[in-house]
Amino acid sequence: MTSQTLREARKYEEASEKLISKEDRPGFHLSVRIGWLNDPNGFSVYNGMYHLFYQYHPYSSHTGPMHWGHAVSKDLLHWNYLPAALAPDEFYDRDGCFSGSAVTLEDGRHLLMYTGVIRERQKDGGICEVQTQCVAVGDGTDYEKYEGNPVLDETHLPEGGSRFDFRDPKMWKTEDGTYRCVVGNRSADGSGQILLYTSKDGFQWEFKNVLIANRNRFGSMWECPDFFYLDGKWVLLTSPQDMLPQGFEYHNGNGTLCLIGDYDPKTDTFIEQHDQAIDYGIDFYAPQTIETSDGRRIMIGWMQNWDACGIRTPEEPWSGQMSLPRELFIRNGRLYQAPVRELDALRKNEIAYKNKSISGEIRLQGIQGRRVDMELVLSPGDEENLYQKFAVRFAQNAQYRTSLSFRPHESVLKIDRKFSGSRRAIIHQRRCLVKDQKGKLKLRIILDSFSAEIFVNDGEQVLSVTMYTDLDAQDISFFADGQVLMDIIKYDLDMEGSNPSDRGILG
Ligand code: FRU
Repeated sequence: MTSQTLREARKYEEASEKLISKEDRPGFHLSVRIGWLNDPNGFSVYNGMYHLFYQYHPYSSHTGPMHWGHAVSKDLLHWNYLPAALAPDEFYDRDGCFSGSAVTLEDGRHLLMYTGVIRERQKDGGICEVQTQCVAVGDGTDYEKYEGNPVLDETHLPEGGSRFDFRDPKMWKTEDGTYRCVVGNRSADGSGQILLYTSKDGFQWEFKNVLIANRNRFGSMWECPDFFYLDGKWVLLTSPQDMLPQGFEYHNGNGTLCLIGDYDPKTDTFIEQHDQAIDYGIDFYAPQTIETSDGRRIMIGWMQNWDACGIRTPEEPWSGQMSLPRELFIRNGRLYQAPVRELDALRKNEIAYKNKSISGEIRLQGIQGRRVDMELVLSPGDEENLYQKFAVRFAQNAQYRTSLSFRPHESVLKIDRKFSGSRRAIIHQRRCLVKDQKGKLKLRIILDSFSAEIFVNDGEQVLSVTMYTDLDAQDISFFADGQVLMDIIKYDLDMEGSNPSDRGILG
């Protein structure tokens, strides 16, 4: 039975999405159908399609009582909206259906697990959000909330675990057909911990163990955990709140954290061996992954960050887009990312230059556009006398530009979106330390209408930023202080004519 709240949301989104023209949206990044979007939720493969749900407030371009929006795709790039899947319409989730995940049940139904939120007045007069985990089952379009909800509440918490910070369940199915999930929680020391739960049927859940505790090392509460096996290691992704910077690795505020290590099945604990940021840009948070039928681990994040919000004006009918789907792999003990290989099918109009000498500012014939995939390989023109700075500027016209600059003497790569249409005093620049290679650098830059994602040195680091620059700012230019030799291959990314056939992803 669809509730009145959900019916209204579905009616509203269908009528109001018409306010947004295709040109005013990103091309191959999923954006909100109408209103506000944050975290990716329920990312899954179901009945031969990729399903992606999202934190959704249809009624304004600001966050509000959370619904789950829904979209499907065959190639992770062309998305079609489906009706909103969940609305805050039960006593246990009346103030929001927060983030969660999806799996396919043995009987073929699609199971969603999410955080139900209710605001509770405290003795001191303040209001706190009580968070529990709830499930809903459906057929890929319509979902029914389980009558036994919530399935995890404060009685399933370890000693000292907070019932106010207990959210974002990420489920997976194990080889023996049972289910597991990790949930973010705050422990008695005020910092995050990741709780591990098990279930035989997806409905009855039991607490297993504290998989890992933050112990106040990386920020405070850990949001949106994901836990999976990749290339012989176990990987924990999470998005910590209230981070402090550590050199160039982490920045202040909401951040992203990847821990790589081993899982000890005897104690059900994670033994961490390496930590790093997931994304080194400005706009990336709360990522979620899936394993595809051909065995790839693919991650999508919210291409925005709570601390950098506010870039859009209230008149804008939409706010929020997902990152590019990225294939993950581990190399030399680190997390690497590559744009999903389906993107290659969108490449059109190749333009290439080899060994182009850059000194001062230049433009190259045919190199321009706002939906672009370009690969740059830089090397010093004079190794004895290394260049001081290289920059590539895009989304550029007389008024605007977004620039990516590299100073080889410091090995610092900087993204700057100060001149990219923002009218808010938010973060506009971020620096990232790259591996020192004596002036050599490889960059793959993916531009969509309102974003840039930069894959550094074959995906060793990635920087994501949104920009809302006027779409007529289409120029791309290059600059060097000193001499740089550059190889470049550039493609337009064309959404038309590359829509996958009706075959479905599973053949
Ligand atoms: C992360 C987050 C989650 C929560 C959701 C609410 O961005 O704060 O922890 O479930 O957003 O929309």
